[in-house]
Amino acid sequence: MANNWELGRFLDTLRFFQTLPFVGTLEPLRPVLLPLLPDLFKPPAYRGSGLVVVMGATGRTGQAVVKTLLGQGYAVRSVVRDRAKAERLLPPDPFLEIVVADVTQPLPADVLQGSRAVINCVGAKVQPNPNAPPPGLEIVGASPEAVEFEGMRHLLERAQPYFQSQPNTYPLFDYRYPTPPLKEVWGALDDVVMGGVSASQFYLKDHSALFTGVVSTANSGGFVSIRTRNLTPPLNLQGYTGIQLRVRGDGQRYKFFLRSDPAWDGVGYAISFDTVADQWITVELPFSHFIPVFRARTAPSAPPLNVGQIYSLQLMLSKFEYDGALNPRFRPGTLSLEIESIQAYGNLPLPRIIQVSSAGVTRPQQANLDPKEQPLAVQYNKELGGLLTWKLAAENMLRQSGLPYTIVRPCGLTDQSGGRELRLDQGDRLMGSLSREDLAAFLASLLNLPMACYRTMEVVATDQAAEAYPNWAVRLAQLASDRP
Ligand SMILES: NC(=O)c1ccc[n+]([C@@H]2O[C@H](COP(=O)([O-])OP(=O)(O)OC[C@H]3O[C@@H](n4cnc5c(N)ncnc54)[C@H](OP(=O)(O)O)[C@@H]3O)[C@@H](O)[C@H]2O)c1
Repeated sequence: MANNWELGRFLDTLRFFQTLPFVGTLEPLRPVLLPLLPDLFKPPAYRGSGLVVVMGATGRTGQAVVKTLLGQGYAVRSVVRDRAKAERLLPPDPFLEIVVADVTQPLPADVLQGSRAVINCVGAKVQPNPNAPPPGLEIVGASPEAVEFEGMRHLLERAQPYFQSQPNTYPLFDYRYPTPPLKEVWGALDDVVMGGVSASQFYLKDHSALFTGVVSTANSGGFVSIRTRNLTPPLNLQGYTGIQLRVRGDGQRYKFFLRSDPAWDGVGYAISFDTVADQWITVELPFSHFIPVFRARTAPSAPPLNVGQIYSLQLMLSKFEYDGALNPRFRPGTLSLEIESIQAYGNLPLPRIIQVSSAGVTRPQQANLDPKEQPLAVQYNKELGGLLTWKLAAENMLRQSGLPYTIVRPCGLTDQSGGRELRLDQGDRLMGSLSREDLAAFLASLLNLPMACYRTMEVVATDQAAEAYPNWAVRLAQLASDRP
């Protein structure tokens, strides 16, 4: 076992976390250091909001949704019919994955693996044709029945088993499936920063990741850990109860930390958990049980953990528990903690399928409406292959699926720039339009709103400018739930 302190590892640690322990971030030194060490200030590659599947990502709404999600820190799996079109239209991004599938056929078995939700922007293609009978529009390609209705059936065929098998969880790191490069996200943070000689590593195996190394109590040391660089944007885990780990350990007691402050050396919130040697176990770490800790001392006067703003995660094996007490299950030497997944778990469901439907879906069957006052899609529903009728049938199938969903029925969509206040309504009466950009921002907001579940709503733009921080939770609460 090495027992010489290593300057090289100490500097690597500082470089990875862009910090000086006990001093803080290198940010004030940026102007001096940037020209000398440009890599030092490279932003971390992981954006921590989870993986969202966007169906119909090469469509005009789909593209706006992909762009919005990538900008908000999500990884995106785009499901498209045409890879070349996707590569041409979607922004190059290491967190954008492209999967080719046609919704009129069964979808690939693993299309949802590792994801937290789906935003479905698929729609039967309608295009102008001056030679077509009034209104001069025609359906191209598969029929509305095949795209809207069969498409929903194929989506639910994958979504029901996948989402039902993991109720109300949000995979933060799921090493059973490909994830962002480990080395960009997690770095070793061992007692080398305090003069110790312990050394840990974290690497990917086939369907898991392994935290391993050697912990030594030489030079007053005695801990190894892996910590994420600060996540940008920070994770919002409101609505969840805690963190769930799926791990196979070595019988020792480990600590898990969360930080709700971007400062390097601020208060961390810790919880200890025991592992069972060589056995896979599921460990639940409720947020209410995390204790504030500052440099291994409890900090009772610290503010409570802000779960709406989690900047970093850390796993640690330490000789110490808290306030100088010894870890009763610690033994110096090699350690092994294999990790399958780190997820948030909770008791409030979040939408798993966000369906872009359409205003007007119930109107073809409303006898009392004056057709001349209705949009073309309503007036010519029959000529357009029953487009709205099949969209409504798809909605009904989703409402009966048992999955948490949100159905959004936009009025006419435009490619104008966004920034308008949106109005939500129910009863299928709204007329007007909204931009795909505003719709995309709204759809992305729904991902984190338990209040959005089991609701169907129409949406239209108003002529007001949008509020900077619209309170969607309050506005959704004013709408009726589909569930009595
Ligand atoms: N346009 C409006 O004014 C309006 C109003 C209310 C509601 N809506 C609804 O809002 C949604 C988005 O509208 P949009 O105007 O942005 O649509 P869009 O540009 O026509 O995009 C539709 C998407 O669906 C995909 N798609 C069609 N058939 C498919 C199939 N068999 N398999 C896989 N993907 C398929 C298309 O793929 P390709 O890219 O390969 O063609 C495209 O990506 C649609 O559901 C639409 O009905 C639209």
